[in-house]
Amino acid sequence: MMIKVAIIGSGGISKSHVQCLTKISDAQIVSTYDVDFQRAAELAASCGAKAYSEVEEAVLAADLVYILTPPSFHKDLSIMAMENGKHVMIEKPIAISAEDAEQIVEASDRLGRLAMVGFNMRYRQGYNKLKRIVDSGKLGPVLNLWSQRMSMGSQKGTWRTNQLQMSGFTIESLSHDIDIFRWLSGSEVESVYGNVKNSRDDLPGYDDNSLVILKLRNGYTASIQASWSSHLDFNSRGIVGNEGTAMISGKGTWNFDTFRYKTNRMDNEFVESFDDPLNADSYLEENIHFIDCVKNGTKPITTAKDGLAILQVSQAILQSSRENRVVTL
Ligand SMILES: NC(=O)c1ccc[n+]([C@@H]2O[C@H](COP(=O)([O-])OP(=O)(O)OC[C@H]3O[C@@H](n4cnc5c(N)ncnc54)[C@H](O)[C@@H]3O)[C@@H](O)[C@H]2O)c1
Repeated sequence: MMIKVAIIGSGGISKSHVQCLTKISDAQIVSTYDVDFQRAAELAASCGAKAYSEVEEAVLAADLVYILTPPSFHKDLSIMAMENGKHVMIEKPIAISAEDAEQIVEASDRLGRLAMVGFNMRYRQGYNKLKRIVDSGKLGPVLNLWSQRMSMGSQKGTWRTNQLQMSGFTIESLSHDIDIFRWLSGSEVESVYGNVKNSRDDLPGYDDNSLVILKLRNGYTASIQASWSSHLDFNSRGIVGNEGTAMISGKGTWNFDTFRYKTNRMDNEFVESFDDPLNADSYLEENIHFIDCVKNGTKPITTAKDGLAILQVSQAILQSSRENRVVTL
């Protein structure tokens, strides 16, 4: 069974998805759309699809619609696609407000359409090393998780910093860290304390630094230290357990090249070099998964409900920072 795909939003991330979808034998990209028609046309030419100047026409040509626009447009586009009987793959973050996200969840339930939110980090090699070791029990009872990622993000002149379209770093980018913590712990976030800052006088309202402590319902604690205004580039993610500690690290915000762990039973730490840059592999796995879900009518691993839960955590972090207090979800 061939799944016909529409691509709505033909910018940066669409290229990663299109590259992957063209490798999946059960998927065929049939239509593209962008408010900038030229972009849709170029993308369509790269994959043998047709570019449309009306979004509804692009949607109607397909079985499955990829919503790859800035997040402020995700709600209207995804609901329109589901109302036309289509399944949707929505890039993260699901939306820019919990109210919008709730409407997407409601439409997916009411219309019986699959809505996956694209948290591709779950398919990264590095995070899977952490997931396997924590699930193996080798680290013992978990005390805390961390995500530290520092780099210089140059976002001027894009929707990410445009007053009318921005969702901000804490909503857009921290959605990945929050998703990974929920996945590694198997638990929801109970409360947060956040300190969110804007380093740029020329980009009012744009948060680019978030320092966050999260408490999870199962008792784990977690921290996020994330900056898009750091003059040094590095990252590390890890887990401290009672009987062992594991971490991955690498250059920049998203590249992992080293996995280390040590437990009480080991004399020396285990160190492994591996190559897990932020490339198309995780998007390929993500796309294979969702095409399978659409073919078989099965639930995706990251649904609109997950997208909503994650967005609520981001909003609680922002509220915590504004009010300088712990916010309970
Ligand atoms: N999973 C990841 O790692 C990852 C990485 C990058 C971006 N993203 C997400 O992907 C989405 C898009 O980001 P991007 O980096 O591709 O942005 P982008 O600016 O490169 O592309 C967005 C495109 O959407 C088009 N667009 C704007 N409004 C539209 C509308 N109403 N209808 C149709 N097209 C419209 C723009 O013209 C542009 O071509 C965002 O939600 C972002 O957070 C996810």
